[in-house]
Amino acid sequence: MSEQSSVRLDGQGTTAEAVSDEVARSEEASILLDGQKVPFSEGQTIMDAAMAAGTYIPHLCHNPEFKPHGSCRVCVVTVNGRTAAACTMPAQKDQVVETSTEALQTERRRLLQMLFVEGNHVCPACEASGNCQLQAVAYYVGMLSPHYNHFYPQRPVDASHPDFFIDFNRCILCELCVRASRDMDGKDLFAISGRGINSRLVVNSPSGRLGDTDFHTGDKAAHVCPVGAILFKHQGYDKPIGERLYDRQPISEVGDARAAEQGDQSNE
Ligand code: SF4
Ligand code: FES
Repeated sequence: MSEQSSVRLDGQGTTAEAVSDEVARSEEASILLDGQKVPFSEGQTIMDAAMAAGTYIPHLCHNPEFKPHGSCRVCVVTVNGRTAAACTMPAQKDQVVETSTEALQTERRRLLQMLFVEGNHVCPACEASGNCQLQAVAYYVGMLSPHYNHFYPQRPVDASHPDFFIDFNRCILCELCVRASRDMDGKDLFAISGRGINSRLVVNSPSGRLGDTDFHTGDKAAHVCPVGAILFKHQGYDKPIGERLYDRQPISEVGDARAAEQGDQSNE
C-alpha cells in the first residue's frame, strides 16, 4: 500500500477531493496486460497503452509518431484469447491481453523468418547491423535460423543520391518512409507498387531514381527506416559494430530509439 494511501486511511489529510480522485482512479478504464492493470484513454490502442506503461510489444511497421499501419503483424497479441495486432486494436475496458506467450513468440518468429527469406538480409554485410529493428526483434524473439528457403529476389541498389543510398533488397515494405515523406515532409517521394509477392518500394521521380528527387538529410523519411534499406552515405562504420544501439541494449529496453540516434548522427 502506498504511503499516500496509508495517510488517507489514517484519516490524516483526507479530503473530499482526495477521496474523489481516488474513486476516479479506481474507475479509470484499464486493460489487464500480462496480468498487470494498465490504464488507457479514449482512442488509444493496446500498443499505445502498453508503450505508455513501459511494456514492450515487438513491432516493425509501427512507429508511435505515425498512424498505425497494421501490415507486419509482428505485434500480434491475444485479446480475450483471440489474436489481434496490438498496434491497430483499440484498447477496451477490461480486455485481458497477453503479449509474450510461447505461442505468440513462435508466431513472431515465423513472421520474421518469412521477412528474412523474402528479401536479401545479409546482416554481417549491412551497415545497419546493430541499429536494425528487424535484426533486434529477431534476437528478442529467439529466431536462430531462417527456417524457410530463401527467395533470393533480384533487386537493385539505388546510389544515385549524393547523401543516401537505397538497398531495395532490405526493404520490408513497412511504408514508414512512404508515410513520413507524404504526411510529414509533404514530398510524397516513395510509394509501394504492385501486389502481394510482387509489391516493391518505388521512388516517385520521373527516372525512378532517388538522385532525381529533393530528398534531404533533414527529411523525416530519412530517419524512419527500421532496417538498412535507406542509409546515409559518408557515415559507414562511424560507429563500430558492437557499439551500436541494439548491440548495447535489447530492443525491449530501447524500443524505437534508433530513429532518434540516427537523427543525432546525421547532425554530428
Ligand atoms: S525503405 Fe525502409 S522505411 Fe521504407 S518501406 Fe522499406 S523498410 Fe520501410
Ligand atoms: S507493428 Fe503492428 S502490424 Fe506491424
